Formats: sequence, C-alpha cells, structure tokens
Amino acid sequence: MTINRHHRTSSPRWLRLPQTLAILAASILWSAASPAVSQTPHNDGPWWKHAVLYEIYPRSYQDSNGDGVGDLNGITQRLDYLQNLGVDAIWIAPMYPSPQVDFGYDISDYENIDPNYGTLADFDHLQSEAKKRNIRIILDMVLNHTSDKHQWFIDAASSRTNPKHNYYVWNDGIPANSTGVTEFQKRYEHEGRVPPNNWTSTFGGSAWQWVPAVHQYYYHFFYVQQPDLNWRNPVVEKAMFDQMRFWLDRGVAGFRLDAIPTLFEDPQLREEKNLGGTNAQGDPNYSDAYQSNLPEVHDTIRRMREMINSYSGDRVLIGETYLPNTAALDMWYGGEKHNELQLPMDFLVGFHGDHDKLDVAKFRTNLDDAETKIHGSQPLFVFDNHDNVRSWDRYGDGIHNQQIARILAAILLTTRSAALLWEGQELGMVTTTPTRKEDVKDPIGITGWPKEKGRDGERTPMQWDDSKNAGFSDAATTWLPVPPSYTTTNVKTEESDPDSLLNWYKQLIAMRRSDPTLRDGKQIMIDESNSSVLSYVREGVAGHPSIIVALNFTDQPQTISLDPSKAKVSGKTVSTLLTNAPDLKQSTTLQNITLPPYALWIGSIK
Ligand code: NOJ
Repeated sequence: MTINRHHRTSSPRWLRLPQTLAILAASILWSAASPAVSQTPHNDGPWWKHAVLYEIYPRSYQDSNGDGVGDLNGITQRLDYLQNLGVDAIWIAPMYPSPQVDFGYDISDYENIDPNYGTLADFDHLQSEAKKRNIRIILDMVLNHTSDKHQWFIDAASSRTNPKHNYYVWNDGIPANSTGVTEFQKRYEHEGRVPPNNWTSTFGGSAWQWVPAVHQYYYHFFYVQQPDLNWRNPVVEKAMFDQMRFWLDRGVAGFRLDAIPTLFEDPQLREEKNLGGTNAQGDPNYSDAYQSNLPEVHDTIRRMREMINSYSGDRVLIGETYLPNTAALDMWYGGEKHNELQLPMDFLVGFHGDHDKLDVAKFRTNLDDAETKIHGSQPLFVFDNHDNVRSWDRYGDGIHNQQIARILAAILLTTRSAALLWEGQELGMVTTTPTRKEDVKDPIGITGWPKEKGRDGERTPMQWDDSKNAGFSDAATTWLPVPPSYTTTNVKTEESDPDSLLNWYKQLIAMRRSDPTLRDGKQIMIDESNSSVLSYVREGVAGHPSIIVALNFTDQPQTISLDPSKAKVSGKTVSTLLTNAPDLKQSTTLQNITLPPYALWIGSIK
C-alpha cells in the first residue's frame, strides 16, 4: 500500500472509510405536510438493500470492564444509541482470537472470541439484544490470510510434508545469483536463495518470508504475521467456507469480506512493473497487477454466494473492494447475472484521489455511474472506515468542516445507495494522529514513520460524553488516547444540540427510512452543467412523490433553477422536506432558488 496520510486510498496498490422528540421536532426543518397522493405499499427488497450499516471497531467503541480496551459487552451497552440513530446492522471488525499484530486482522482461531473482547456467550448475548432492536450483526471475515499463530500455519511451517503445508503459498525461491535478481530481492537472501520475484507486501518489504524449517518462502500480501492462504487448494476453500458457516449457523446476517480482491496470485509469479520512486516504507513502488484482482477470484465468490444463499434470511456478502472504476466494480456484483457480492463497497464516490474536495463534477459522474453502470445492482457508498483519514479531515477545509460534513451525510443518505457509517463519523470526530513515533500502535506507522504515521488517528476511542475518557472507559489509560476534541464533540453534547451533526444524521436517516422514494427511487442527475451545485431527482415510487435534492458545494450563495423533466417529472411546485437553510423552508418553486453557502435542500415535487 502506498500510503498518504492525507488520503491513504489514492494508491493503485491495495486501495486502501436519546434524542428527545422535542429536540428532534424543534431541529427538524422537515415538513410534516405530506402531499395527498394515492400511495401503494412499496416493497424495496431484502433488508440490506437500503440499509444503514455502521462499522464498529470493538477495541474502540465501549470498554465494559475497565481495561482500556473496548469489548462486546460494551457494544451491547450502546445498542440503544445505535437503534436511536437508525442503524439496521452493525459490522464488527474482527473480534476473533488474535495476536493483535494487525488488531484482529490476523486471526488465530475463526471460531471463538478474543478474550480481550469477551466470550462466545457475550457474542450470543449481543446478538440477541441487537435482534430485539432490529439490528443485525455483520462479521468481518478475513479470508486472504490467517495469523502465523493459527494452528494451520504452525503445522504448515513445520514440514513440507505436513498435510497443512499446502494451505499456504510456498516457494523455494531462486538462486541469489540468478539473472535479473534485484537489490530489493537480495535483501531477503537466505541459504543462497532469494524470493522468486519482486512482489512486495502492501505493508512494506518483500511479500516473501523465509522459513528455515522448510527451506522455503511463504507469501504474505500484508504483514509477515499474516501468511496468505492458498485458495488454489480446494481444501482451503472448504475449510474457510466452514468457518463462515460456523457464524451463519449462529445467526449472523452476513460478512464484510476483508481484502477480498487479494485471494489469488499469479501462478506464473510474473514480475510486477516498477512504477518508479519509493513508497513511505522505503520500498520501490511496484504495481500489484499479479497480486490482486485476478479473475479466478470470481469463481470462488460465485460459490460463496451459492453457499450464502442456502441460508434463510437474506444473508449478505459485502466486499472491501477498492477498485479503479465502475466497470471493475460491476464485475464484483457478477454484472448482469448478479450472482457474486450483493454489496461490493463503492469507494469511487467517497475517495477521489490524493486531494479530496467537494468537486461537483466528480460527484455527479461517480454518482451517475453507480446508478447506471452496475446493471441495476445496489450501490454501497463509503466515506469512512478504520483504515483512512476521516472524511471530516479529507474533505474539510479547516473552516467549513461542519457544513461539508453535512453535505457528505446528505450524499450518503439521499442517493439510492445503501449507506455505511464508521463510528464517530456521525459526530464529526477528528482524525487524531500520534505526534511521536513512540506513541504509535499501528505497525505500518512505526515502520513508515514519519511519512506514514499509521491508522491510529482514525481509530481513537468513541466519544460518548465529556467525562473521563469520553465515557469510553474507566481505565487509567486507554489503548489509544482519547482525542482532546471529546469535550465538545461527543454523543451527549450533540444529542442536546438541535443543530449538531449527530442530529443532522438522525434526521436524514429517519427521513429515508420513512420515504420509499428516497430509499428506492431512481436517481437522475439534473442541472448538469452547474459546477457549484449538485442536483438530482429521485423518481417517485408507488405513488409517492418524486424528490429533488440540491447541494451547494461552495462557500458562496448560489441561485439555481431546476428542471426535473429529464426525470420524467412534470410537477412544478415543491414543498420542502428538509433543509439546513431556514429561508428555504417555505420554498414552493424550482425557479430562482438561492441556496446559502453549503446549503442543502430536499423538496418533494407536486
Ligand atoms: C483491510 C483491513 O481493513 C485492514 O485494517 C487490514 O489491515 C487489512 N485488510 C489486512 O487484513
């Protein structure tokens, strides 16, 4: 991974996102008047289609036992908050037993819970309490690699004849004096041999690690402690599907598939292209064309989908799919066959390259592509997760971050996408990156310092209130420090402020839950030559009125006149459903509307 602290996902390599009713009523500029039209009940498909999904990093959400690390019982304690926010499902980052080198993404046992986070009984309790609140559980499933402390790998690395040896990807290496061997390969010489090619780990160094006991190198796309599984071995597929079944049988609603494009590598081990220069880890920059997104992965995914489909209850496969364009994304759905992932993540809308900014044209194109170029599949947009600088900082200009965050929330929740939120996004939590190398916990931040400071900044504890440790933990110290911003940016303070970002999210989520057009209506871009205001129509469904959305991306007032006829909408009068601009609350026309700076306006068309 070429890492850029401003925006870590710009690389072509592993690309790396109780409010009282009284307050709600006061804050909401959302008209109660619903137009009198005949409406038929609308079934917009399986539960995940327009779901609000919420990612939880178990270490950082809520500590229930005072050890400074979050846990499953802590999540259970916060379910009321999640229900109140309007969340349909929580995705829990890995909570399985793990040496925690990559904070859980190095799994040593797929069928248990890490003692840091609790027990299987705690998990069952969390799941049943969540169910009472109509919240489903999505687990993070790491299929590309295990921990090197997983018993499979311990066995595999013990001898070439061990039955588990072929669970992983091994190579004898090549003689160090072979033609074409690079200086980079020579750094990894053992017993006169070097790695078979120039492949790098996305976390730094060669992707090949020598094991003296077997006189071979094993392949790891991520840390040395994360050996890649050999998906060309059918026994591995069966073993990993069985791990998934363990949790499906326990009732989980689906999986977020970690790093899923990296399951297969080129069997010919072809050299990666040298892109010139070095990355933050000090290694030469190479492409990853032979290490990622190989076509073979799609056969596996189709079989996985069949397996998932054999369970009742609309279980869902969500993919961590950083991809270069919408055509590549469409393949992860299975194109017109729709037989692969239901929700590969679309990072194209939320991550624009090295310098994210509110660029109307880019958003318009990417949103339109998601609507028109994926064979009618369901988009899932992502602005934030535990691997990237928060959108608050990526898109924020340091002056209008509050307003910009509201625009991003509106894009996430008023387009046809399912929506993924990362804990704290709804509060405007700030990326708080360590300032001293000795404080860094994320290994890539230690090896990459100071160019790459790691991902600790986006993983800091959830800010619940203004008490000690932001209400996250009673411990004297927490695993990552609580950012100073907690005194003002926290759930408790924002719940009581009608104009808070949290209440903005709540309003948008509540509105979309109650409006079939917002959830399922076709999304059509209008006023397409406007470079300051993004406008689109959501075509009415089942007799519900069409909806028009206009977002002023600038710090200047903008006057627009909107013509929704492109969306086959003939109505000319509107009533405001939601706006952050008091003057627009009474708007009834589509002509000469002046949007104040960063204003958002959502209207229902009559
Ligand atoms: C993607 C995860 O989101 C990231 O946190 C992790 O380090 C890598 N995959 C390796 O599992």
